[in-house]
This record gives sequence, structure tokens and C-alpha cells, in this order.
Amino acid sequence: MKQTVDWHSHWTRKSPGFHEGQVNSYLEQFLPLYKLQPGDTIFMPLCGKAVDILWLSQQGYQVVGVELSEVAIESFFAESDIDFVKVQHENLVAYESPGITLYQGNYMNMQADYLTGCKLVYDRASIVAIESFNRKSYKLKMLDIVSPGTPMLLVTLDYDQTVMQGPPFSVPVSEVEELYLPEYQLELLQSNEQIEERPKWREIGLGSLLESALRLTANEV
Ligand SMILES: C[S@@+](CC[C@H](N)C(=O)[O-])C[C@H]1O[C@@H](n2cnc3c(N)ncnc32)[C@H](O)[C@@H]1O
Repeated sequence: MKQTVDWHSHWTRKSPGFHEGQVNSYLEQFLPLYKLQPGDTIFMPLCGKAVDILWLSQQGYQVVGVELSEVAIESFFAESDIDFVKVQHENLVAYESPGITLYQGNYMNMQADYLTGCKLVYDRASIVAIESFNRKSYKLKMLDIVSPGTPMLLVTLDYDQTVMQGPPFSVPVSEVEELYLPEYQLELLQSNEQIEERPKWREIGLGSLLESALRLTANEV
């Protein structure tokens, strides 16, 4: 997967724009739909240092994430005041603590055996971090590493890509639907207009920024 975005430079900023700093409201609202059991594993692709990692582990889930940036992962553990051990794998470095394992390196190097028993994929600001020409590979990799039919909670953004270049990129609900066919069907859980909350994006010239939470469930194929 060829990448054009220099993510490491985003992480040299004190607080990258995409970092929420609080538990994602869709996650809190919609997680009960998935009827997970304590101890179940949740995969967070391209996890950054999201507060959601800590929150999910505090709810009793095992969290597995993958993130390119060492700075992001080390900040996550430092800010959460959690000790970790580092384990070198072939292409990734695992940062392990009870209930949380974050793999540092390229998502494309994840392996199915790192995600055994995974019961949910939580994709917030992850698909929208992937360039359009890489989204198919991202999806195919996902199908490779999680068990067939693993449900997903996915949060995406839709805006006029001619006005702003991204990342995050605009990935309309229809594109997510098309991308995940035929393996998944999609349910729109909620859409919210976010432009008032993002004055910088309005200044750039965007008139709308639609955020949507989606539930993906397996199709019989
Ligand atoms: C928009 S941020 C979202 C982070 C997180 N999901 C959140 O909600 O805060 C996208 C993240 O993906 C990471 N990333 C981009 N490409 C990656 C790749 N190929 N493998 C692993 N991480 C990647 C970036 O370093 C960045 O932290």
C-alpha cells in the first residue's frame, strides 16, 4: 500500500486535529447493539492514541490496535499512566499491557493470529485516513485478518473533497457500502452535520461536513 500522507509529521504536533480527547459519542451510544461479553476482543485499526482504547479496556474488553506512529502509542500509554512491555514481532512491535495490545507499524502487516476471537472492528477516523486508491486493499486486508462476519462499527465523514484535500478524506456512506459489498450489509445508525463544530473547516470554504455512524453486519455470501 503506497502512502502519500506523512502521518509521522501529524504526530510531531502536540495534539493532532483528529484526536478527540474524549470517548467517542457514537461508540458509547451504539456499543450495546453488539451485545459483547466482558473479555471479548475489539480491534481498532489505525487507532492513534484514542481515549476509546482506555475506555473500552475499562469496560472489560480486550483491545487490539494497530498504529503507524510510535509517538502516538507511547503518548497513549504515558497519558493513560499504564505500563507496557514491548515485544518485537516480524514486522510490527507489540506494546502489551493487561487488556491492551497496540501494534506499532503498518496495518498491512497485521496478521490474523493477532486478532484471534475478535468480536468487533471499531473503525473511527480510520477508513477516512486511507487514500481512495488504497481503500480496497484496506478492506481486503481486514477480511484477511478478522474472522468472516465480524461486525463493525464505522464512523465516516462526507464533505466536498474539491474544497479540502484531506486527510481525513471524504468517504461517503455509499462508498463504504460499495466497498464492503458483498460481505457486509450496512445500517446507518446516525448522521450529524458537524460544520458548526469545525470552524477551521468552514474557513477553508466547506459548507457541510456530515459525520455518520454505520453498523456493518455480515451478509450471507
Ligand atoms: C485520522 S487518525 C485517527 C486515529 C484514531 N482512529 C482516532 O480516532 O483518534 C489516523 C491514524 O492512522 C494512522 N495510520 C495511517 N496509516 C496507517 C497505516 N498504514 N498503518 C497503521 N496506522 C496508520 C496515523 O498515524 C493516524 O494516527
